Amino acid sequence: MAKERIEFQCKECQHRELRWLGRCPECSSWNSFEQMAGEVTSGERGRRFTVPKGDELVRPVPMTQVTGNDLERISVQPQELARVLGGGLVPGSLLLLGGAPGVGKSTLLTTLAAAVASPEAPVVYLSAEESAAQVRRRAERLGAVHDHLLLLQEPALERVLPPLYESPPRLLVIDSIQTVFSQQIDGTPGSVSQIRMCGGLLADFARATGCAVLMIGHLTKDGDLAGPRLLEHLVDTVLYFEPDAGGAVRMVRAFKNRFGATGELAVFEMDDSGLVPVRDASALFLRGRQRTEHGSAVTAILSGTRPLLVEVQALLATTRYATPARVVSGVDSKRVALLAAILERRANVKLMDQDIYVKVAGGVRVSDPAADLALVAAMASSLKSRPVPADVIVLGEVGLTGELRPVANAGARLREAEGHGFERAVLPAVMHGRAKDDAPKSMKVHRVKNLREALAAAFNVAEAQA
Ligand code: TYD
Ligand code: MG
Repeated sequence: MAKERIEFQCKECQHRELRWLGRCPECSSWNSFEQMAGEVTSGERGRRFTVPKGDELVRPVPMTQVTGNDLERISVQPQELARVLGGGLVPGSLLLLGGAPGVGKSTLLTTLAAAVASPEAPVVYLSAEESAAQVRRRAERLGAVHDHLLLLQEPALERVLPPLYESPPRLLVIDSIQTVFSQQIDGTPGSVSQIRMCGGLLADFARATGCAVLMIGHLTKDGDLAGPRLLEHLVDTVLYFEPDAGGAVRMVRAFKNRFGATGELAVFEMDDSGLVPVRDASALFLRGRQRTEHGSAVTAILSGTRPLLVEVQALLATTRYATPARVVSGVDSKRVALLAAILERRANVKLMDQDIYVKVAGGVRVSDPAADLALVAAMASSLKSRPVPADVIVLGEVGLTGELRPVANAGARLREAEGHGFERAVLPAVMHGRAKDDAPKSMKVHRVKNLREALAAAFNVAEAQA
């Protein structure tokens, strides 16, 4: 905000100072400073601003006069991806798809490009890393060869953008942002300055023409998007391939989305015809579950708007080292440490001498706090060598005093569990809002207040009821 600031000016040479001085440092005149009346300068670092005249001024408009038409979306296939995007591609938006080499970025975007392409909506695929023949071969394999899917092989953006400004396509795919460059600056493709510059050029292009621009970005080996991370603030939507998915499973998550929910997850399986959407992701994540083994608990997490069943596994074994091992994947290791401490203090079990291994089956990353109870139950189950019955689903955030805290959207989670054959649920007695009435009728629901009650209910339902 602009704020009023007092300044002093030398009568002799017009030199300005923020405080009054007896002698001007410029012209050495004595007693020449006078206070200036009500000078307004911009607050930021004292930069002065000159007020633009008449028609250069921009005035705020009432929100009711704003039209919502620009959120019309370009429909997208596969449907899984459309859901992650929040319904489709928004014209003029800029998107980033990040992932490790070989994970399927080019495959996914070739499929998407061909699905969007039509005579009214041509799509341009700029491949700066592979030859046109390679791109064509991939498209053939995917059944994505299309007259209105046009190819570009040139990495210099100044050479490709002018014709595209003249007749903008509906969608432009950049494969990849690390291999294109701008001739206006020095630096090799992939350098920080080049990525910034190219991101900026493409953002201008998208905004000016209404063409949606999808940029592919490579992850570095240590899992960080060193270069493309710079672009996160610039783009409207960031999608990342999940790094730990095993085998042929590929997951794409919306990390940031100005036009939809974040956290939304699309699940695919890679086969000969490309990335095939997995309709029932819960079934996929529960595939191979050992129903009678200890050290496992199933919970329902919310990924974006959709409930997903996941199996949390724990293996506890008496340590042979001075410091017990803590090996965790699929969930934050600090969270596991915290829950282990709560379990130890609030449920009177001894974990000090235990190695703890925790993983989420299927490679999905879990950040939903509702999975707390499953993590604790899996650890307790392994420690006691006592399985959680296979038809029990556990939900709940666990607090430091061992209390169970409510979970969001419990109804949707329970319906997903019911659909996959779960008959009993353990969940917090305190629920959010209307959720209380939401549990499916056919399910037996145990509402519990704290960790002890929850574990009793999870392991032996009859005992808890008594
Ligand atoms: P690709 O999309 O080229 O990965 P990225 O662009 O992320 O580097 O695909 C990588 C792998 O996918 C490659 O090893 C081959 C495999 N693949 C299939 O299994 N089926 C297919 O139909 C296609 C096109 C690729
Ligand atoms: Mg590629």
